[in-house]
Amino acid sequence: MKEQELEQAEARLREEFNRWAQAGRGEEMAEEHAAIAAGMLAQMTFAPNDKILDIGCGAGWLCGILADKVPQGQVVGMDVADEMVRRARHRYADRVNLMFISAGAGDIPWDDNFFNHAVSVESAYYWPHPPQALVEILRVLQPGGTLRLLINLYKENVYSHPWREKLGVPTHLLSGDEWCELLEQAGFHHTRHARVPDLRPVPAGHQSKWFRTAEELANFRRQGALLVYGEKPSPL
Ligand SMILES: C[S@@+](CC[C@H](N)C(=O)[O-])C[C@H]1O[C@@H](n2cnc3c(N)ncnc32)[C@H](O)[C@@H]1O
Repeated sequence: MKEQELEQAEARLREEFNRWAQAGRGEEMAEEHAAIAAGMLAQMTFAPNDKILDIGCGAGWLCGILADKVPQGQVVGMDVADEMVRRARHRYADRVNLMFISAGAGDIPWDDNFFNHAVSVESAYYWPHPPQALVEILRVLQPGGTLRLLINLYKENVYSHPWREKLGVPTHLLSGDEWCELLEQAGFHHTRHARVPDLRPVPAGHQSKWFRTAEELANFRRQGALLVYGEKPSPL
């Protein structure tokens, strides 16, 4: 993707997600995504001095949880929407091992080989050019560092497909295998994907912009979120 095209696509994302931030949706998503994020966190082990990057951090709630797990380490939350970042900075101003930066996944303003872990919740399908973002994430990870992408919009979960027309920005619809292939092409190894089920009960009579009936929501949650994993190879 040409630099100018990437800038234009990121500007469109910034505009849309700044609107979400102003409407308080960053904080609402904390509640919506906490169940699946807990499933991802349960699979991770942390050293107290680990350095972690959260790409598309939104209101920063996951960064707050991660910062508690690495008291001598550092957590960096990054988001293309500066209004999300402004709110996250305000909310977590007292945390010494947590900072937020405004940037797009295609050009991460950070040193090579820095982070032990990179995570991203419900963001990767918005990235204008995922191959470029994955190469950037690989660059900022230490050898042996891990990447986890957690997404609800993916090919195998047909109940999420109608979102694509309702969202105000373009999205990518890929399968677990296709995401793994992209990670491999970017240079990750030991890639795999799995489902993280969302077992919360569905309120009777549920109706929303995203799911017309409680049954649709229940079907969607039964499929679970897609967790895509890869590691940065270590030199021999
Ligand atoms: C659905 S929200 C999820 C936010 C947060 N991870 C959560 O779970 O609450 C998607 C977030 O990804 C961010 N985002 C989208 N495209 C991005 C990109 N190319 N680079 C960085 N952030 C991006 C958006 O600004 C938005 O805050």
